[in-house]
Amino acid sequence: MTIDHDTRPVVLDQDFFDDPDALYRELRDARPVTRATGPNGLTFWMITRYDDARAALNDPRLRKDSRRLPEVLQRHGATSFRQFADSLVGHMLNADPPDHTRLRKLVGRAFTVRAIARLRPRIEQIATELADAAEQAGPELDLLDHFAFPLPMTVISEILGVPGERREDFRHWSNLLLSSGPDEERAAAAASMAQFLSELVADKSAHPGDDMLSEIVRASEDGDSLSSAEVTAMAFLLLVAGHETTVNLIGNGMLALLRDPGQHARLRADPDRVPQAVEEFLRYDGPVNLATIRFTDEPVEYSGVTIPAGEVVLVSLIGANRDPGRYPDPQRFDPDRDTSGHLAFGYGIHHCLGAPLARLEADVAFRTLLARFPDMALAGAPGQHRESTLIHALTALPVRLNA
Ligand code: HEM
Repeated sequence: MTIDHDTRPVVLDQDFFDDPDALYRELRDARPVTRATGPNGLTFWMITRYDDARAALNDPRLRKDSRRLPEVLQRHGATSFRQFADSLVGHMLNADPPDHTRLRKLVGRAFTVRAIARLRPRIEQIATELADAAEQAGPELDLLDHFAFPLPMTVISEILGVPGERREDFRHWSNLLLSSGPDEERAAAAASMAQFLSELVADKSAHPGDDMLSEIVRASEDGDSLSSAEVTAMAFLLLVAGHETTVNLIGNGMLALLRDPGQHARLRADPDRVPQAVEEFLRYDGPVNLATIRFTDEPVEYSGVTIPAGEVVLVSLIGANRDPGRYPDPQRFDPDRDTSGHLAFGYGIHHCLGAPLARLEADVAFRTLLARFPDMALAGAPGQHRESTLIHALTALPVRLNA
């Protein structure tokens, strides 16, 4: 990857997906607010400094409005947005107030720290069962397939009431939608996803259960607080956000530990430090690279650069979390550091709704893996990272479970 010290957009390629901070290190100094082009042809403004990132995430002049988004994206070179069928885009993460406030309120209470804490025994049971199955499948396996993916997928599916048999299908479609593959493949995945979710919603309407999706469907039928497209989009957002990120908190975090035997041993000896280590996993190598798409409604200025109205803006969470102005020696994995204020869960009104759930799942996951497989080691090079500007995700994490 080469940086032209002029106004041409920075081109994001596989080197960037594998080690984004190599680019951010240069950009934060030389071009902290710059134009960039992603693999699907979208050209956007990229913000890489901590202070700018935090301000931008909290800036009401940066809009999300899903009704206007397709037109803005198309104008900036995106070829693939139309494949996200209408029924998948009208969710809270693509909404501004007052729609955002209304949508988030509907599910907000279910995701508080206190409500989520009640799930701990069930999450521990799922983690133990996965560790048992991994032991059978081992001694060498892909930790993503056998543990990091099925744990959050099972948890969010149980919360929402999604039957088990379609989870691998869902993983496949979600993978295609969040990565930068051929347009036809992504269109087919979006159509399958939309079909699956609308059947699921119809089923919850006909046979309501004791699950969150049934509750959301009931809310939409009882009043005019939610349209049927919003129900499907909500299910889509919760299912995708509920697993695509946590899998990588476990995967990226475990990779950091396996590359640092000293820290691995310290954590094994004192598992009560896991919550603190999880915050450093989030800061050091978080699951979200560039936050979701925002666009300007009027000119905005960051670090002396003016972004005109009608432009697409992506805020780099990894860039912000590695900013030496905020975190000294940021390339060092250091579970003892002060991680407060990290932006791995975003900031402002769209701050991650599922953060309490993600933290609980990671706590259980690392405690379980450290106790069950104390001698875990890398079994070869980890896979490349997925071709996605949104998700910072390994394609595989081969490990040997026992010495
Ligand atoms: C929003 C990260 C897990 C649900 C966000 C945002 C980030 C994020 C960065 C804001 C994006 C933006 O402003 O553009 C993460 C990370 C996770 C995680 C790093 C795991 C380690 C979860 C889980 C759920 C979830 C388990 C479960 C439901 C959501 C929802 C939003 C969101 C619903 C939208 C909130 C809104 O628009 O008000 N997440 N997330 N996330 N996340 Fe998470």
